[in-house]
Amino acid sequence: MLCSAAAPLTAAPEPPLLTTPEQAAGRKKLRVGIVGCGRMGQYFAEVYRRLPDTELAAIAEWNDERRKVVGERFQVGALFKDAPAMVRAEKLDLVAIITPTKFMHDAVIAAAEAGVKGIATDKPIAASLANADAMVDACARRKIVFAGGNLQRARWQTQVAAQRLRQGRYGRITSATVMGFGGEISGGGCQHVAVLRLLTSADVAQVETWGFPAKTLAQESDQGLMINGRWRLSTGIECSVFADREPFSGVQVNTERGAIRWSWNAPRVFEIARDGARREVDPAYPAFPWRHVLDKPPLREGDDYLVASIRSFVDAVHLGRPSSSLFVSGHDLRQSLEVAIASKLSAGKEGGPVALPLKDRSLALMPTAYRWLGGDAVGSPQSATDASGETQ
Ligand SMILES: NC(=O)c1ccc[n+]([C@@H]2O[C@H](COP(=O)([O-])OP(=O)(O)OC[C@H]3O[C@@H](n4cnc5c(N)ncnc54)[C@H](O)[C@@H]3O)[C@@H](O)[C@H]2O)c1
Repeated sequence: MLCSAAAPLTAAPEPPLLTTPEQAAGRKKLRVGIVGCGRMGQYFAEVYRRLPDTELAAIAEWNDERRKVVGERFQVGALFKDAPAMVRAEKLDLVAIITPTKFMHDAVIAAAEAGVKGIATDKPIAASLANADAMVDACARRKIVFAGGNLQRARWQTQVAAQRLRQGRYGRITSATVMGFGGEISGGGCQHVAVLRLLTSADVAQVETWGFPAKTLAQESDQGLMINGRWRLSTGIECSVFADREPFSGVQVNTERGAIRWSWNAPRVFEIARDGARREVDPAYPAFPWRHVLDKPPLREGDDYLVASIRSFVDAVHLGRPSSSLFVSGHDLRQSLEVAIASKLSAGKEGGPVALPLKDRSLALMPTAYRWLGGDAVGSPQSATDASGETQ
């Protein structure tokens, strides 16, 4: 049973993080193009077609049969094979690139050179730091808003919890813990790093880590690599890192007066009671203003962070806000990749300290073959029936 939070935890006014549906309704619609309309791209397309201030205008999809099917499903006639063809032919405001990771770099550069206002991609952003840098820099140089994608960091309640932490409602941050950092430290682990950086308002400055099983340290990909150790944050805070998923997988930020724990859901809030125990309190999060976008399948309750991520992206472009205002940015994806690479590097040196930012930008960490190349290339294609949405 949750106790009510003590007054000071909920008293401070919370500034709005996103514009409301009413505010968005009067805006001119931004024209959106999707690049890579497979399993994940179709979720992005569903969101964009439901928002009042965006119009799904074009799709670039490599697979001929799927391109035709998704064109019919989303009633989009402007269909192209790839990003260069799409941005040459269509005047777009936003381009969302949801291809497998290998193809993200070229598509981001093509969209940036075409002069769109905003580009979004997904995780992991790249294998090499050099490629991630090139994407972030290409957008920054042209003042293009560069968003991340479907990351837990973008969840409404996680953003509210981070805002409360920044306002000092839970007291000073004293330490942090990451649990369950393993299995896919770039592909899935980027979620942990992105949430940690958000909740602590800090970057990872140094890592000292160990990895197992030993054979995973010799391979190019992050598959199966488990990490233990510690990260020192740019604010001086120490973060313990555990591969173990018990008692939870996620991120806990400890403060003078309690703790915030993100574990793949709305963050839980704990207060330190008189007896010294951390007791869970009701965080009383304000309602997510875009919840109704999830009312119809195939979107579900659990897709709230995709909607929140896209809303913060659309708001940034409409309101002329910088990429740093985003719930999740391309920069955040790059920082997550860098921490994963540094952790593997340190693990290969028996926990020897590795300072960030890494000087050698040619360093890389391959994601799993599915993430890198997509379902068609690894024998797990999405069927035309699934792509049509009929089975959802
Ligand atoms: N954030 C998340 O929660 C999450 C979840 C699943 C997947 N992903 C990421 O999304 C990406 C795509 O995964 P998926 O499950 O949709 O894969 P998928 O194989 O189902 O779809 C990828 C699609 O991109 C198309 N494609 C490939 N190269 C292209 C190119 N150059 N131009 C245009 N289209 C191209 C393919 O034909 C395919 O239809 C991966 O990087 C994956 O890691 C993220």
